[in-house]
Amino acid sequence: MLLWLTVKLPPTARFSTVCLHAGQEPDPSTGAIVVPIYQTSTYVQEELGKNKGYEYARTQNPTRLALEGNLAAIESGKAGFAFASGMAAINAVVSLLKTGDHVIVTSNVYGGTYRLFERVVARYSVSFTYTDTADPAALELAFTPATRMVFIETPSNPVMRLTDLAAAAGIAHRHGAKLVVDNTFATPCLQRPLTLGADIVVHSTTKYLNGHSDSVGGAVITLQDDDAEWLQFVQNAAGAILGPFDSWLVLRGTKTLPLRMAQHNANGLALAQFLEGHPKVRRVHYPGLATHPQHELAKRQMAGFGGMLSFDVGSLEAARQVLKHVRLMALAESLGGVETLISHPATMTHASVPADQRSAIGIPDSLVRISAGVEDIEDLKEDLNRALEAA
Ligand SMILES: Cc1ncc(COP(=O)(O)O)c(C=O)c1O
Repeated sequence: MLLWLTVKLPPTARFSTVCLHAGQEPDPSTGAIVVPIYQTSTYVQEELGKNKGYEYARTQNPTRLALEGNLAAIESGKAGFAFASGMAAINAVVSLLKTGDHVIVTSNVYGGTYRLFERVVARYSVSFTYTDTADPAALELAFTPATRMVFIETPSNPVMRLTDLAAAAGIAHRHGAKLVVDNTFATPCLQRPLTLGADIVVHSTTKYLNGHSDSVGGAVITLQDDDAEWLQFVQNAAGAILGPFDSWLVLRGTKTLPLRMAQHNANGLALAQFLEGHPKVRRVHYPGLATHPQHELAKRQMAGFGGMLSFDVGSLEAARQVLKHVRLMALAESLGGVETLISHPATMTHASVPADQRSAIGIPDSLVRISAGVEDIEDLKEDLNRALEAA
């Protein structure tokens, strides 16, 4: 829906206040402070052609509309659209393309995004070039006369490589292409791509925005009216909407996003520093470390370094032992929840990327990824230390 601001939210409100209040007004029928879960499929109409703005719940649902207003506000966008998953959101963005169009994509994009592009969208004669978008020269070289979109993940998964968003927006726009940013890892708490020149932001709300590992969802946030109109049309036409209960969960999640991100940032940095000093660890990927090749860009572009990190333990067998011996950290796909998760990118998140391509983009079988939760850091360090001793 198009962004509407609540009565009590002043236009000068700061980020934490916007997270809590944007899109949310006391329920008009009862005054309930929390937007209710409107678990309904349809709405009774007063007479033919006369309704309260709601006809059918695929098209409009008040809980979803509240979330969409909230997401648009926290990403500094004009309109937000909530989808059934992050992949459904990305698929909706892809519907802006036509046969013959070309897209440039960050080379180590999420494996599911790669699978959607290569196995599904490519069948409709849309072509994709995967390149290191962190390198402006490589990005520039990837354009063809048919390029209509640049799709970026920064930090990228799982090696935490960054793309300079303002520079990428300048390059994309000079070539007449839209810049789309998957902001799942950073969240609007740490970076707001639409303020740096991006045209569209996508999210897997499954991750930090919901934050509690109990909902799957996605979102698209736009700035331009024509993109918003098309996405609203596609959301209804294709119907991959986020349900009312999940919308309510994500709306609850964004209220505490700044609080949670502060703890994710602190734990992410502390774990990265601990791992960097550990004799069994060969390399740590975390933008908050001074040894990260793009640390200066991270400081400039991000308001914190996040909870995602990965580290190389030298062999597949050592990685297997670490994953087997952690107790507090849960071996699981996904990220961005309050519980710390640990995973093996080569066989989990990036299993759909061919092995030769995986090694080309820096994802060896010896790499382990952590999504740092909000537990006490000493407990996390002890758990990891014990697992590394066993490796
Ligand atoms: C960066 C990123 N984008 C998109 C997705 C897809 O989101 P979902 O699993 O909600 O469909 C994921 C899932 O892990 C992801 O990590």
